[in-house]
Amino acid sequence: MPKIEIMPSILAADMGNLEAAIRQCERAGADQIHMDIMDGVFVPNISMGPAVVAMADRVTNLPMDVHLMLLQPQNHIEAFAKAGADTILIHIEADCDVEDTLKKIRGLGCKSGITVNPPTPVESIFQCLEKGLADEVLIMSVNPGFGGQKYIAAAEAKVAAVRSRYPDMLISIDGGIDLETVKPAAAHGANLFVAGTSLFKAPDMKAAVAQMRANAEAVYCSKI
Ligand code: DX5
Ligand code: ZN
Repeated sequence: MPKIEIMPSILAADMGNLEAAIRQCERAGADQIHMDIMDGVFVPNISMGPAVVAMADRVTNLPMDVHLMLLQPQNHIEAFAKAGADTILIHIEADCDVEDTLKKIRGLGCKSGITVNPPTPVESIFQCLEKGLADEVLIMSVNPGFGGQKYIAAAEAKVAAVRSRYPDMLISIDGGIDLETVKPAAAHGANLFVAGTSLFKAPDMKAAVAQMRANAEAVYCSKI
């Protein structure tokens, strides 16, 4: 089973000093940096582009988990790969040939990830998982577009459905993850935890990252 990792989402950082935010995550012991890319079409918000990923690539050696909330991610994967993304995640709901795009992400030298929104059945991603096209599955526990939203517990059953079929899959959960919600998420089998608000608003990010990791490890996969 893959190990527990904590991935701060810089969407919650001070946009006026993203370099400092990246360094703060590194000092806090984060395992990866989660970067939320939004086009204002697939989701009702616009966030950041390849230039921010390239900045982060210059500033840190932490892997970058780049979450494309784009209607047509196939048009942008090359730019994000060139910018230094380690994992590029696309949505099953996107307007693209998902299987072809996942293959192309790998062809660019990145790990591939498939993401599913709260209203979408988890079965929708099983075909590309069966074909071995995804290195990471991202289960959304909020409707994408904004940080600071309330955790949707229904995501847990989706995590468990993937974990029971694919014991070695990297399974991330994203949205409303804090020191409490990380517990049921980990208990159902998630091993990668995206957290924006709860980490960037914490008085001590290092302590929060350590506590989140400990809370997850204490119950990891206990519900399987
Ligand atoms: C939402 C993003 C999430 C979000 C998480 O569309 O995909 O990564 O930034 O933020 P919090 O942890 O504040 O819910
Ligand atoms: Zn995200």
